[in-house]
Amino acid sequence: MSEARQILVTSALPYANGSIHLGHMLEYIQTDMWVRFQKLRGNQCVYVCADDAHGSAIMLRAEKEGITPEQLIANVQAEHSADFADFLVDFDNFHSTHSEENRHFAGLIYTRLRDAGHIATRSVTQYFDPEKGMFLADRFIKGTCPKCGAEDQYGDNCEKCGATYEPTELKDPRSAISGATPVLRESKHFFFKLPDFEAMLKEWTRSGALQESVANKIAEWLDAGLQEWDISRDAPYFGFEIPDEPGKYFYVWLDAPVGYMASFANLCKRRPELDFDAFWGKDSEAELYHFIGKDIINFHALFWPAMLEGAGYRKPTALNVHGYLTVNGQKMSKSRGTFIKARTYLEHLNPEYLRYYYASKLSRGVDDLDLNLEDFVQKVNSDLVGKVVNIASRCAGFIHKGNGGVLVEANPEPELWAAFQNAAPSIAEAYEARDFARAMREIMALADRANAWIADKAPWALNKQEGKQAEVQAICALGVNLFRQLVILLKPVLPKLAEATEAFLNVAPLTWADLATPLANHPLNAFTPLMTRIEPAKIEAMVEASKEDLAAAETGSSPKQGNGELLKEPLAPQINFDAFAAVDLRIALIEKAELVEGAEKLLRLTLDIGDEKRNVFSGIKSAYPNPAELEGRLTLYVANLAPRKMKFGVSEGMVLAAGPGGKEIFLLSPDAGAKPGQRVM
Ligand code: MSP
Ligand code: ZN
Repeated sequence: MSEARQILVTSALPYANGSIHLGHMLEYIQTDMWVRFQKLRGNQCVYVCADDAHGSAIMLRAEKEGITPEQLIANVQAEHSADFADFLVDFDNFHSTHSEENRHFAGLIYTRLRDAGHIATRSVTQYFDPEKGMFLADRFIKGTCPKCGAEDQYGDNCEKCGATYEPTELKDPRSAISGATPVLRESKHFFFKLPDFEAMLKEWTRSGALQESVANKIAEWLDAGLQEWDISRDAPYFGFEIPDEPGKYFYVWLDAPVGYMASFANLCKRRPELDFDAFWGKDSEAELYHFIGKDIINFHALFWPAMLEGAGYRKPTALNVHGYLTVNGQKMSKSRGTFIKARTYLEHLNPEYLRYYYASKLSRGVDDLDLNLEDFVQKVNSDLVGKVVNIASRCAGFIHKGNGGVLVEANPEPELWAAFQNAAPSIAEAYEARDFARAMREIMALADRANAWIADKAPWALNKQEGKQAEVQAICALGVNLFRQLVILLKPVLPKLAEATEAFLNVAPLTWADLATPLANHPLNAFTPLMTRIEPAKIEAMVEASKEDLAAAETGSSPKQGNGELLKEPLAPQINFDAFAAVDLRIALIEKAELVEGAEKLLRLTLDIGDEKRNVFSGIKSAYPNPAELEGRLTLYVANLAPRKMKFGVSEGMVLAAGPGGKEIFLLSPDAGAKPGQRVM
């Protein structure tokens, strides 16, 4: 290693309006492993992060919970900090964008941009909620899709037909906050003139700062032409007021990346050896890396470098972009129990299992990464417990029983020791390049060799023979030393295992440099099991608990989930048995199901209820657009409901279905064996 490098590393700032889940953890664990590697190598590496605490979502959630936004973000910051600490993510600082430092730097960057002519203003017409007294972001407007007529669609795209449109094109628009009909209103907005930086961005994005696929994506955007970026929001908003512009606030994404700087500046107050300008000044020689997910590339590869350039700061050395986490091959799902919160995981499993699994699958690309829960159990048990820890547990006992716990000086297999020495540079290179998967493969290949050698030497057999004691001690001394090598190589991934190993080996914290010299003539401490196997039952329990998290969340007040609305439906007043028995519920066979000409929501059903046929119009078309699929199916039918004359004919009774509407209407069915006409009791 030459001169120690100065490196500043960040992970994206998590939103302060929700819990950390295993998808987020992919990013924080990846970053933490890279930072730990740099520190282990003796570089000066600083890792900062913060909660992203601004925006209307946070304001509205605080309001709903009946607390101030400041209280909300303080609660969330405590929760996030604990989650990260327990996953062994070791920030040098975890700050907040709602901080004095961030107010200072956001204001400073803005005024520098403004004074250099990079800010424009113009009037923007937007929907305004007259009841709530606020402008509505697209996702706070609901209405009927202008293309397909689906109801209850959000601001700018239809989930039903996939159309995208302007919120002003929605039919029957409503405010998702108050339900009021929004009105169009004008207001002055502030824009960052991104096109001023086109030439710089074209160059910077091709300077090696971006992975190739990311650079290609950006090139498409650059070729399509850059737009000015709207950086202001009107009061009420939770954020920073724009200097000299009362009632106007910075859009959350303006001050969010500035939070990287602010967190570092805050850390400088506590760590006098850190010089702010040495890291952020225009001529800084320090390296600056942002680890981010692929969904926020535009903010980091376009807006942020342009802001830095325009305000006289240095630009990032590189963005390290990663893909999205899937679980068991699919998007994380609340109903399948695979939307797993960091805390739920921690209540069931050791954080190092996940750190190792992510490491074993992470490379430098932006592909999505799958957490396959079966593979997870298998891989952790076979690699960490079966290969790595096993070496120490095979050897430690003989040293304690045969030599009073003193590890002798011996190298009975110089070639094997040399193989470990020779592998280290390539493993370091893999870590440096964030190719953790390659690093793990190469480390496990070494573990395989160590195990094979010990199995071949079989100290447990030798130990039973006369005069072989010295040989047994030599084998076990090398075994423990090889184990120590593996633990150093794995230390960025498994810091707790390393700590426990340091206690067992009776040594100071291990560094990469310790790879060069083996332990010799050294007393060990007692060996305690360093890591245990994952029991599959723990995985099941975690998945079940994640389903429970969901049930708890949905009886709360999340506005988005269809199921939530169902669970929230208040119970009707109690009735006596007679009132229930007055309803004549029957099993009915759907003989025919047809579309009704001119009806938007209805299907015509012909029901067989034993010895009679009935004609029923039912408003279930949105869930069963191909009615033929209902034919031949049994359902429940209210037989004695007074007939109703409708535009399309007389409806005789009704069939039973559950659900909030739209696609989520579920026709009820009896178990197999029920017969048309049977009464339901
Ligand atoms: N607040 C913004 C970031 C501002 S940075 C100046 C944000 N927050 S977030 O909480 O939504 O996401 C934080 C990070 O976690 C992002 O980099 C995001 O890509 C990452 N991930 C969120 N869900 C993820 C997965 N399911 N999988 C992998 N990474 C994920 O965006
Ligand atoms: Zn539509």
